Amino acid sequence: MSLIKNIFHTGEILKDLEKQELLRKCPVTARIRDNQDPGKSGSRFAMTGSGPLLNFASNDYLGLSTHPAIIRAIGEGLEKYGAGSGASPLVTGLSPVHEELMERLRAITGKEGVLLFSAGFSANQALMKAFMTLNAGLFLDRLSHASMQDMAFYAKRLSRFRHNDAAHLEKLLRKAPGPGVIATEGVFSMDGDQAPLKKLLSLREQYRTPLILDDAHGFGVLGRQGYGSPDFQETGFQNIDVYMGTFSKALGLSGAFAAGDRDFTDFMVNTSREYIYSTMAPAFLAQGALKALDIIEGSEGAELRSHLKALVSRFQNAMKSLLPERCPGSETAIQPIIIGDAGMLMRIARELKTAGILTGSIRPPTVPRGSARLRITLTAAHREEDADFLAEKLHQVIRKLQQEGLGGQAPAEQHPGAALSDREENL
Ligand SMILES: Cc1ncc(COP(=O)(O)O)c(C=O)c1O
Repeated sequence: MSLIKNIFHTGEILKDLEKQELLRKCPVTARIRDNQDPGKSGSRFAMTGSGPLLNFASNDYLGLSTHPAIIRAIGEGLEKYGAGSGASPLVTGLSPVHEELMERLRAITGKEGVLLFSAGFSANQALMKAFMTLNAGLFLDRLSHASMQDMAFYAKRLSRFRHNDAAHLEKLLRKAPGPGVIATEGVFSMDGDQAPLKKLLSLREQYRTPLILDDAHGFGVLGRQGYGSPDFQETGFQNIDVYMGTFSKALGLSGAFAAGDRDFTDFMVNTSREYIYSTMAPAFLAQGALKALDIIEGSEGAELRSHLKALVSRFQNAMKSLLPERCPGSETAIQPIIIGDAGMLMRIARELKTAGILTGSIRPPTVPRGSARLRITLTAAHREEDADFLAEKLHQVIRKLQQEGLGGQAPAEQHPGAALSDREENL
């Protein structure tokens, strides 16, 4: 007899989710290498329970997860440094390779302090908690990632500003009773749109409120050198007080870093439980990240980014005529198609699967109710014909469902930024 099920009624919770088409399961998905060109296959194809599918549901934006030079570097690192790091960074986990990676990230960001984490999720939690420890008020974009939201709700004063709305943020900053920090994302993970960095930096200046930027979906893939949103939006890193980048998206690996003033990172080393009490990521991963940065900074990285950019434009052109109110479009690899109703979304996703296409099906609570969406990600491993095939199938599937009553009306929340959380906040 399951004690948990009986006492806490988890079974009923799951049944209820299933009824609402909100039950989630982790699909077992294997990468399929293209024998002709294994290094360039990235996450283009996925083997799933429904067979091999063209994969538009990964964050492997540059296709680096299968890059031979990175795989070789990791193999060499594994031979040289062993499998695990053996300890947390304050004990013996921090190796010379980690230090080399930190030095490289210091050079990229111009920040004196860099910390490495095993995941972007824990990096964000650690950062949010650090400011809670300092009794800072938190000004958080309403659509920020769960890793920031989770900790934020424990903040002494939480003010969530309307998505990307600098005017609303200013209103909140004006009436703030004490010091705080602004936190947002460079590229929003579920919408693909970008924070208005210049406006936020000017508010930072005016209200002397530090800015923390989670650039999980920008680092490596945006900007002339691939240095992320500060590179793409031409703000530089200088006035971004804390920059968080991940190795798990464009670098094709896993792990993350936070860069800031030395003073702040030293404070984290001494107080952050996520940093102190967690085993350092293996050295071979740091070796892989160094190689990924070589590629990103070189001509190959520039070519991959330019190919991806061309694919994004091509896909958007092909989608223009299809329910434009559902395809807000973005300049980044993340292309959401807002469906609204979760049941309808799952029908569309199933039809696409039958046509050989895998997309992300994003439902509440990841996005607000009424804004369930296909999250489509293009990557540099895709080819032009893949983007065309996707657009053609989307047209067919949505037209078919429209005829059956999907209707042309916009979803209840046309843009999820308009949605309010049902949790209390300090507005
Ligand atoms: C905006 C954002 N921040 C942080 C994370 C967490 O990063 P990681 O997957 O490395 O834990 C994600 C993950 O998808 C994300 O989308």
